[in-house]
Amino acid sequence: MVSENKLLLSFLLELSEALSNYGQLRIQEELPKLFCEVIKADGCAVYVQKINNYILHKQYSSSASSHFASSWRQIGWNLSTAAVYIDAPETAGRYFQGGIWQRCLLLPLLREDKIEGVLLAGWAGASPLDGLLQEELRLLQPISQLLSDIYCTTHLITALKEREKSLSILYQKAEQELENGRRQVSLALHDEVGQVLTSILLQLNILQQSEDLDYVKGRLGGLSHITQQTLEEVRRISHNLRPALLENLGLQAALESHIKEYTDSTGIAVEFRHHNLEERLPDDVEIIVYRAVQEGLTNVARHAGASSVMINLTVKGNKLLLQIEDNGKGMEERKSSGLGLLGMEERVKLAKGKFWLLNQKDQGLTLNILLPLV
Ligand SMILES: Nc1ncnc2c1ncn2[C@@H]1O[C@H](COP(=O)(O)OP(=O)(O)O)[C@@H](O)[C@H]1O
Ligand SMILES: [Mg+2]
Repeated sequence: MVSENKLLLSFLLELSEALSNYGQLRIQEELPKLFCEVIKADGCAVYVQKINNYILHKQYSSSASSHFASSWRQIGWNLSTAAVYIDAPETAGRYFQGGIWQRCLLLPLLREDKIEGVLLAGWAGASPLDGLLQEELRLLQPISQLLSDIYCTTHLITALKEREKSLSILYQKAEQELENGRRQVSLALHDEVGQVLTSILLQLNILQQSEDLDYVKGRLGGLSHITQQTLEEVRRISHNLRPALLENLGLQAALESHIKEYTDSTGIAVEFRHHNLEERLPDDVEIIVYRAVQEGLTNVARHAGASSVMINLTVKGNKLLLQIEDNGKGMEERKSSGLGLLGMEERVKLAKGKFWLLNQKDQGLTLNILLPLV
């Protein structure tokens, strides 16, 4: 006979009410406490899987010591996908002040049939679940689904928020650079080019009035010289908007020159391999590759502790692949991503390319960029 199950129903009700009142991040903080209160447990902890390990996500205990939950780490891994209600193992007593847990509930957190974590609750004395039949425990399954949704998506939300923040800083920086660039160009146009053009115009007006052909011819030589100089000035201004080396020498020579300077100043050896780089590439591709190599090499010097770097640049069909591989310590888990890599990723995405990192602890980081050439 199925016993009366007001407890679970009221828990489900309370939970759904709490969910509609809190934001996801807050309910995550409060759930273990709520769980304890509603189910009248003496302690409760949530573990969430992280690679092959479980980390304590949140615990709540009204009378147990703060360490009690660690004794439960060993249990959760052998869980079935169903809720389990069992006699508590003896180890629980070591961490529990004022008594030994008699019973405990293990509730797996499931995502697409995979166990992503576990919720543990324990009772020192009598538990309201004591009267439940095994099939009634299945009523807890929807709760486990809900819990796993809440706990397993939080890190994604946090990562998204961080990325949003970095992007907004990046955007501001780009705006500022653009503004500075505009100011420089407008100053240069006004001071250098504007002055000379005015002077040319004035001289042309004078020559227009003159009937002395020899005089006119003499002045035209001078004017042609000034015009030539102005043309060079205009070129200089436009080159300043792109790295001069890249503009003048092309990608391969510009990279070789940058790499030589880099090795001279840092002592880090760089091997540069390239295939099919003979022809000029589209302007935006050249600049993305050049900037990526600059940033990648700077990062190696600043963060990697590497002794050498290998740069591979291959053009094949209508695709370009750039790889920058160092032999350093690899990237530590990123707390917050810097603007260098993020900016690079955004530029690549704008050009409809792909950007990805290959990280090996103690063996270095490889930065990969794949760009379409159309
Ligand atoms: N080659 C590398 N080796 C190890 N860690 C790296 C490497 N490149 C980047 N990192 C890590 O990634 C973080 C982000 O890099 P980046 O976006 O360029 O920002 P920044 O260089 O300003 O810190 C760095 O702070 C560093 O911890
Ligand atoms: Mg950087």
